[in-house]
Amino acid sequence: MKQGGIDPGLKRLFQQRLLRWYRYHGRDLPWRKTQDPYHILVSEVMLQQTQVDRVLGFYDRFLKRYPSVEELASARRSQVREAWDGLGYYARARNLHRTARRVTHRHGGQFPRTYEEAQALPGVGRSTAGALLSFAFGTETPILDTNVKRLLSRIFIQRLSPRPAQTERRLWRLSADLIPKGKAWTFNQALMDFGALVCTAKNPRCSTCCFTDICRAYPRLMRERDRRRG
Ligand code: ADE
Repeated sequence: MKQGGIDPGLKRLFQQRLLRWYRYHGRDLPWRKTQDPYHILVSEVMLQQTQVDRVLGFYDRFLKRYPSVEELASARRSQVREAWDGLGYYARARNLHRTARRVTHRHGGQFPRTYEEAQALPGVGRSTAGALLSFAFGTETPILDTNVKRLLSRIFIQRLSPRPAQTERRLWRLSADLIPKGKAWTFNQALMDFGALVCTAKNPRCSTCCFTDICRAYPRLMRERDRRRG
């Protein structure tokens, strides 16, 4: 990567190949069929610490019980906890409940649309705010969850800085720079799927990956694989 930003040719190539990959391999998930920011937030909060397969069983059930942000806001804390039962990390349910009350009572039921305001909601960090706004409103806000961090650092970063905060800043900048104009929704969903399905933490599927020719980590990953096989 060049100092001061990513090479425009490399950026276009990455965008085109990722969007093409998503057209064929993107997952058909229920939270991708809605633009309701409340429904999207429920999915993103569930997905913070829980795998997609597991969330699938809980998402519909939770929304059947609390179909709108106002209904969640007026529930009792103990009821919300019960609806969250089985998903674990109950702080998420508590924060989601607080967020619902805040949106209902302070914002008149309307979700905030700015990155800063979204991040001020309880339980909504920088990446969840980026996902919420890009998926609900098409805003060009970046995401950087564990999967996206891994795939961007593998493909684009030759040498990780010994200072984690610096690497983190660089990855956020990259995630923001890469978003194609007007395509934040698809691009961010595609990053998540590519990280979950191809550029996985263990045994990445390099043999089916469309980025091996530009991937900084590919030679190392192949050496490690060869070494393991002896
Ligand atoms: N993980 C976090 N958000 C996600 C989403 N929208 N789709 C798939 N996996 C995710």
